[in-house]
Amino acid sequence: MNATTLLALIATLLGLSCSNVGDATTVTQRRFPNDFLWGVASSSYQVEGAWDADDKGESIWDHLTHNFPEKIADKSNADTTSDSYHQWRQDVQMVRQLNVNIYRFSIAWPRILPTGYMNHISNKGIKYYSNLIDELLRYNITPMVTIYHWELPQRLQELGGWTNPEIIPVFKDYARLLFELFGGRVKIWTTINEPWHVCEHGYGVDYMAPSYDYPGIPSYLCGHNLLKAHAEVVHMYRNEYQAKQRGKIGITLDVSWPEAKTNSDEDKEASERAMQFYVGWFGHPIFSKRGNYPQVMIDRIAGMSKEQGFTRSRLPSFTLEEIHLIRGTSDFFGINSYTTNLVTPNGHNNTGNFRIPSYNHDMGVVEEQDPEWPGSGSPWLKAVPFGMYKLLMWIKREYNNPPIIVTENGVSDKGGLEDYARVDYYNSYLTSVLDAIEEGANVKGYIAWSLMDSFEWKAGFTEKFGLYHVDFNHPDKIRTPKVSAKVFAKICETNVIDWHYRPQVDPIVIMNARRSASGASINLACLSTVLLSLLLVNLMRR
Ligand code: NOJ
Repeated sequence: MNATTLLALIATLLGLSCSNVGDATTVTQRRFPNDFLWGVASSSYQVEGAWDADDKGESIWDHLTHNFPEKIADKSNADTTSDSYHQWRQDVQMVRQLNVNIYRFSIAWPRILPTGYMNHISNKGIKYYSNLIDELLRYNITPMVTIYHWELPQRLQELGGWTNPEIIPVFKDYARLLFELFGGRVKIWTTINEPWHVCEHGYGVDYMAPSYDYPGIPSYLCGHNLLKAHAEVVHMYRNEYQAKQRGKIGITLDVSWPEAKTNSDEDKEASERAMQFYVGWFGHPIFSKRGNYPQVMIDRIAGMSKEQGFTRSRLPSFTLEEIHLIRGTSDFFGINSYTTNLVTPNGHNNTGNFRIPSYNHDMGVVEEQDPEWPGSGSPWLKAVPFGMYKLLMWIKREYNNPPIIVTENGVSDKGGLEDYARVDYYNSYLTSVLDAIEEGANVKGYIAWSLMDSFEWKAGFTEKFGLYHVDFNHPDKIRTPKVSAKVFAKICETNVIDWHYRPQVDPIVIMNARRSASGASINLACLSTVLLSLLLVNLMRR
């Protein structure tokens, strides 16, 4: 018996741990294909901190959190957050301990180009990412870089951000610089993370920076420019870099699976329409055979725009040349998905209480969730694994079975190391991924969100998604593995989902985490556990 096992045993005897063993009726072991890729993810604004270190420029999230703190649940910002700008070596060790093949992270545009433009290139910013990439490669971990995970330089926002077509050449310059600097070492790129969020939540409603709250028009302009910018970058990569750098490039879309509320034709139609509005908006132009926006979006938005007195559709149209330019510009289908909604059409005459015009009114689908579904630390996120299976099968059918990478999946809670609910979530969602693989979906990899607790956008620090706990009150932002980190590490090592594997947290680790969270007050129960443990360990050594 080693010391760790002994400590765990003692903890069990003292009733300090709480492993509620998995449902005995579940199949206990499922195996992924041998070449399946495992990864873990983070994003620059959420983990780096050092918001104004060296010559970094202001991003739209710096701007939003500093000027409108009331828009963030706990009025916080990511000025320091998990401090990965300084703790990156430790981050890599954490990634290593998870036994993953891939670390997916993003580059902060204003850290590399403080003004957004090429007139000012930050050597310090470059050095940071260069070091991170080298450190990952040292341990055989593949860096997967997201070029844009929501950190637009504020100066570009002042020009209209993604609603201004000027963004296209500027984004291309930024991407070119990244290929030049890092392309020799980075073999998987994604251009943009979750375009739907960037456009609808950034411009249509007041949810994400830049917080426009201007429904029905700018989100479609954003989508239009974003698709062209993405396509230009992919063509540039393919024409000028791919042959020598031998990497892959793609995009990451997102959706919560829209399950028809009932078996009625109307609800099934609402589900399909929601998929086309959420995924098809960006997916159809890139992944479908025909290209262009989904016909249902083109028709509905044109029809409603006309009724509303607009002279042309609020959804801009592509030229034939642009349709060809965008079609086929992704080497894989990156998908982020966390939950499921129940959907039904928005009344017979689309007369619900949506704002008019708006994206939601254009889509005409009402979403809700079953209160019986298991919840999480986020109001929008319920654990409904069948949604993941249905989503992967939909992508397979709709886009001719493309290679898929689940680029994000995970669950939030309110904190703590004994996150057995997260363990259940991963086991059940991975089971659904495996079901889809076994039915022919070409899923190549799965990337857990997230490596560590971090700034969760509008929710601030009130929702935790990490496999590693971060003590945000401690100056060193101490990281501690949660139970889920051990379980995920085992899955990545063995390729097997094992419902019976529910390890416990060492009492010393719990005690340290509690101590650092509460300043320094030592919990007496923990102290006695540790003293007893040390005594027994000493006895064993003799
Ligand atoms: C998707 C986003 O890419 C990520 O930044 C966010 O933290 C997770 N969803 C969870 O909300």
